[in-house]
Amino acid sequence: MPREIYKEFDGYDEIIREREVLRKYGLDFSPQKDAPEQYIARLHPRRLTLRVSDIIPETSSTGTLRLVRPEGALPPFLAGQYIALFLEIGGVRTARPYSISSGPHQTGYYDLTVRRVKNGLVSNYLLDEIKPGDLLESSGPEGRFYHNPLFHDRTMVCLAGGSGITPFMSMIREVVERGLDREIFLFYGNRTLQDAAFHNQLLYCNERFANFHYLPVAETPEREYPGLSGLITGELIKKSLKDVEDKTFYLCGPQAMYDFCIPELEGLGVAPRKIRREIYGPPAQVTQAPNWPVEIKTDQFFTVKVKSGPELEVPAGTPLGTSLERQGVTIPSLCRSGECSRCRVKILSGKVFEPPGTLVRRSDRRYGYTHACVAYPLSDLEIML
Ligand SMILES: Cc1cc2nc3c(=O)[nH]c(=O)nc-3n(C[C@H](O)[C@H](O)[C@H](O)COP(=O)(O)OP(=O)(O)OC[C@H]3O[C@@H](n4cnc5c(N)ncnc54)[C@H](O)[C@@H]3O)c2cc1C
Ligand code: FES
Repeated sequence: MPREIYKEFDGYDEIIREREVLRKYGLDFSPQKDAPEQYIARLHPRRLTLRVSDIIPETSSTGTLRLVRPEGALPPFLAGQYIALFLEIGGVRTARPYSISSGPHQTGYYDLTVRRVKNGLVSNYLLDEIKPGDLLESSGPEGRFYHNPLFHDRTMVCLAGGSGITPFMSMIREVVERGLDREIFLFYGNRTLQDAAFHNQLLYCNERFANFHYLPVAETPEREYPGLSGLITGELIKKSLKDVEDKTFYLCGPQAMYDFCIPELEGLGVAPRKIRREIYGPPAQVTQAPNWPVEIKTDQFFTVKVKSGPELEVPAGTPLGTSLERQGVTIPSLCRSGECSRCRVKILSGKVFEPPGTLVRRSDRRYGYTHACVAYPLSDLEIML
């Protein structure tokens, strides 16, 4: 019989007596000690298995994947959040984030609305290969692009470009379908109106709900188009809103849209703290980013030595994380736009370029960490995963 050494600890008898008393009065909660953890795992699961229940065409280049959870309920989310899909395509294990376009009050499914990207790996795979009944693996809901009633104004001014409509669709659906006391102005830029996903639903909401205002903007409209055209300029915003006071601005779209619209908003006197934006991945043309060293060409190759791992050749013009996963070294990722820090790697030697706006924690920067999803090699590197 092994010696029960714990009985010899100071205070053992008092603890046992105390437990007896708690049990007697129904105050012993120790049998439920795992309950909070289980509850948190239900609300914030790391992984979900989802089944495609339907695929809804939206425009010639965009479709909505309706996803249900075969086992258990879907975790709740805030309108504007995304999930990351984890996939293996042609032997490459990768992930891509997609904003949930259905409303958060719709608890039976998540809608992901995907726009085809020319030569894009995942968007084309989702739109061409995935069929109803297929299973997909994802993260739980993530992201900080949502309306926070404590800090944000009651009036939301949303500027969407192309596929950047999706988080706003979720916010609009929540506000109009749940009758929330909030006002939304939506400026939605597309090349032509035929490219505008959800156009008819948005026109309907504009007619039906006094607190929603839909302002589609066609960049290159057909001739004699009577609506708003060109880019979403400060002048156009000013004309459509009475003023910019007591309003929070939300931007979601391609990098070029931020580069253009943020100075336009600042020109109207909108304070930077009133501008919130979701970044949709690494810059399309990193060489156009401010401070990119002109002497480095995108097709220049550098050697990356992974500590206790392989040595690989990677191009300067592709994010480190993407180059590594294409060669079989997968780094965990979620947002793939430099924000969530899931893909952090330590640079032991060498130099990388991080586009402006990359959110590396101060302590991470101090110890040489970078976010591989948006870090571009500028020299030979040694890294630790
Ligand atoms: C928070 C968040 C939410 C998002 N929500 C949505 C959404 O709701 N809907 C949506 O449609 N998208 C959304 N996106 C974008 C989405 O995650 C993907 O980035 C998008 O679908 C493109 O992925 P892809 O794999 O098709 O393209 P990728 O393969 O990643 O290619 C992207 C670009 O790189 C170029 N490229 C590809 N291969 C190479 C190569 N070898 N060398 C150089 N360039 C190359 C491609 O031509 C393309 O222009 C979101 C992004 C973020 C960060
Ligand atoms: S995956 Fe989020 S910071 Fe890189």
